[in-house]
Amino acid sequence: MNSKRIVYGYSSIGIVLVAGCLFARSGRNVAHRPVHAGADGEASSFTVRPASYLLPDPLPEDTTDRGSMPAEKVYKNIQTLRGISARELLGTMTFMSGALGVRCGFCHAHDDFSSDEKPEKKTARSMILMTRDINAKNFATGTVTCFTCHHGSPAPVASPSLSQGAWQPIDIADPHRIRRDSTMTVDAVLDRYVKALGGEAALAKITTRVARANEVQGGGTTATVDIFQKGPNLLRSITASSDPKRGTGVQVYDGRAGWMLSGNRPATNPNNAELENLVRQAELFPAIDLRKSYSQVGLLGKEHIADRDYYVISAMRGAGTDRLYFDAASGLLARRYVEFNTPLGPIPFSIDYSDYRPLDGVMVPFTVKTSSLRDSWTDTITQIRQNAAIADTMFVKPR
Ligand code: HEC
Ligand code: HEC
Repeated sequence: MNSKRIVYGYSSIGIVLVAGCLFARSGRNVAHRPVHAGADGEASSFTVRPASYLLPDPLPEDTTDRGSMPAEKVYKNIQTLRGISARELLGTMTFMSGALGVRCGFCHAHDDFSSDEKPEKKTARSMILMTRDINAKNFATGTVTCFTCHHGSPAPVASPSLSQGAWQPIDIADPHRIRRDSTMTVDAVLDRYVKALGGEAALAKITTRVARANEVQGGGTTATVDIFQKGPNLLRSITASSDPKRGTGVQVYDGRAGWMLSGNRPATNPNNAELENLVRQAELFPAIDLRKSYSQVGLLGKEHIADRDYYVISAMRGAGTDRLYFDAASGLLARRYVEFNTPLGPIPFSIDYSDYRPLDGVMVPFTVKTSSLRDSWTDTITQIRQNAAIADTMFVKPR
């Protein structure tokens, strides 16, 4: 069985994260980063403020213990946290700051904690209500906290990180660090890419490619892959594992649909994750028809990764959104990072192209690495020929 599966690897919605809990008094705080009470960094607003501000001093005539009073009796503008004691308020603030990886000033106006000036404070209120609601409806205790979703960032990430996969971390892992770049346009990046590949005329002369590749799979197993490609996007690849138990698998994309063979079983259709991958692997020159086959093509900006700059283009196709990383120096496509939607959220895979070599007037990536949440495999070309005749019957699904 050698079909390469991108398996649904979303984290279950039932994650039980026993984080410092906003709503359980004995909550333990296991936030992964040090939590700052705000005294540092925000120095301008806090060092000048007497610590007693945070629990206002008793009025002279007030003999009660104000710390045990309801927060709303002691502070000026408590709406959602009514009922907690005044003494608990600051710890709650510290927890929220830590869960989002921010300081107090992220939600609070500099000179007045009771002010509702900042929209983040209002959002935090509705988040508190939402979190309570999630717990009340689904869990016996305050299982879900701000940290469950936020993980130390104001903007929760909806898709699992590829670097959380079961294989070694990859070098272009974080699609969330892209800087805007107004010096480039989508068209300029794509034009440079076509030129870097050899130019339109040279590309038009290449009609087919037959190659053999050595494949190293995530678990260390190896395979030999025979690849038959016909432009613009027909593919038949035959993967023969060196592990006899895995046998041989065939994957085909006929330009419109895919099918797969494994062992002696009848041909099957790829699941939608496999199809998204197959569609992209099938292109004779990857992403060359971006404008034609994708929608919403736009330049996200520039990203600096391990000493290189990449122009990043976003484009949609099928259930997937691609981020295409073009090497700013060479103009060539280095990575295609794809997130495609499942009913519970997007899951990622990526295809990395490297070791481009000239062949018949065009550049061909000799190493292609594919990473999914479950597996990764690297194909390195050992033999290659372009423009050999390939019969169309090769791509027809057997009955
Ligand atoms: C994620 C947003 C957020 C962060 C970060 C945050 N707070 Fe708050 N804070 C709130 C909200 C929301 C309220 C109002 C709660 C309510 O309506 O029950 C509040 C209320 C307060 C109040 C009561 C003010 C009054 O008089 O009504 C104080 C004091 C306070 N925060 C201090 C802090 C301090 C100190 C920090 C940093 C350690 C901090 N907060 C960090 C959202 C935040
Ligand atoms: C179920 C997941 C979930 C939980 C639990 C959750 N949040 Fe959020 N929060 C989100 C998402 C998703 C967004 C981004 C919404 C968007 O982009 O429109 C967000 C946005 C925010 C923002 C706005 C950030 C910004 O950049 O403006 C604040 C503030 C915030 N949350 C505070 C909290 C606090 C405080 C808690 C705990 C009481 C909390 N959240 C719990 C999912 C959650």
